[in-house]
Amino acid sequence: MPFQIRVAETAGFCFGVRKALDKLLEIRNRTHGPVRTLGPLIHNEQVLEALKNRSVDELLPDEDVSGKHVILRAHGVTPDTRDVLKSRDAVICDATCPKVAQVQAIVKKYAQKGYPVIIIGDKGHAEVDGLLGYAGDRGRVVTGPAAAEMLEGGSRVCVVAQTTQDLQVFNETVAIIKEKFDECFEFNTICDATYERQEETRLLAVQSDAMVIVGGRNSANTKRLYEIAAPHCRSVMIQSASGLDPGFFKDVRRVGVTAGASTPAWVIRDVVDRIHAIGWQHSGRLPDRMYHCVRFLTMSHLTWAAGAAMGYAALMQVVAERPLWNVALIMLLLFWIWRIRGHRLNPHIDLGLTVAASIAAVLPLIIATKIHPAISASAALYFVSMMLTRLFLNDCLNVQADRIAGYRTLPVLLGDRCIPWVSGLTITVMLATSVVLIVMKPVPPAYGLLAAPILNLYCFRFLMRQPEWLTLRANLTLDMPFWFTALSVYILSWFS
Ligand code: F3S
Repeated sequence: MPFQIRVAETAGFCFGVRKALDKLLEIRNRTHGPVRTLGPLIHNEQVLEALKNRSVDELLPDEDVSGKHVILRAHGVTPDTRDVLKSRDAVICDATCPKVAQVQAIVKKYAQKGYPVIIIGDKGHAEVDGLLGYAGDRGRVVTGPAAAEMLEGGSRVCVVAQTTQDLQVFNETVAIIKEKFDECFEFNTICDATYERQEETRLLAVQSDAMVIVGGRNSANTKRLYEIAAPHCRSVMIQSASGLDPGFFKDVRRVGVTAGASTPAWVIRDVVDRIHAIGWQHSGRLPDRMYHCVRFLTMSHLTWAAGAAMGYAALMQVVAERPLWNVALIMLLLFWIWRIRGHRLNPHIDLGLTVAASIAAVLPLIIATKIHPAISASAALYFVSMMLTRLFLNDCLNVQADRIAGYRTLPVLLGDRCIPWVSGLTITVMLATSVVLIVMKPVPPAYGLLAAPILNLYCFRFLMRQPEWLTLRANLTLDMPFWFTALSVYILSWFS
């Protein structure tokens, strides 16, 4: 039996990392010169590598920054560092997470009032170093309850937490500090995103036989997720799918997957794919072969091209009363070659080719068979919208990776807000044209055309709800409307 895999809903980029990346990419797309980040923008090697390919790199200690864009990362920096950059004429872009900025403001306020400030966090972590800069000579880092025991007491103190701190550690440490100081102003500055991620990890670990935690080896919040999961079940922390050892899953049924705040969706998706493959491998030779066969057909776009050809034949069966299998076969080949070659094409070409190929495939044939122009036009529009929906939703699967790598696919160009509107529009066109075809060609097979818009609506909801990391299932789901439309039309043909 394959594994039951559950991916945490909170896995992947947090709000602060997403915002920092968006800012950086906005500058990258707007400017031509090199862009520099002060330290690694996030703790993830794959993202840093992709950014490096786009001339976004870490600032070197003795590098001339005059006129260069320098991004201050989500962890924030000390006020001194900011001043030095300003004095060297750098164009500063502040991508400090708003939640970190709030903690900096608290530290600054209490340090100015003369309070000693204790930061419960990791010594040497960029965020903690930044906070120390705001505390001046009043700051002190305490890593946990054991370190708190060593503190000398006093009259008053301000206590904050590193935003990715574990709540339990924070509470225990504060309890000890309170015993040592007469007056303690404590601020639970652990960010909500971190808290929710940690709680979900705890729950998932309790319900799983094994936990896989994905994230950079220097990522403090990923390490913490591992520490939370490890007492509850067999756990492993990896950077990417290549770090998975099949032996780790021996005698395992339920696998939980979570990831740190700077882990991109495509890395999590690769890990889930690999766990699936290991699960089928453990299930025996035949299921393993079948899995790889389905995977090959789907990932090579063959199921899509064949489905599109079947959908085309079904449409022709409705409007021209013959399936035109020979044309469908040619289309299968054309669509397949185009899609495997055309992956990541310029969106204008991608869009233009979809429309041109669909119209070229439908209109002349319909006209040759002397069909009413309204039926011809509806059939062409139906097919174009069906193809466009598949193309668009498929590109939505990779939108995060494409944005970082600089690919200009349609969802990247249109932006997150437009995705529901564009999908809604193409699905509505599909629905409207299928209704027109049903009215003008009132035969039972025509009702089969309704399968595509209805299933595409499901695909859309599925993709919006599901995270981006379900490659195989998502691709199969996207191919479904073509296959089911063809099936429905042919089943209904038996009744006509
Ligand atoms: Fe900000 Fe919390 Fe992420 S502090 S950077 S949203 S983990």
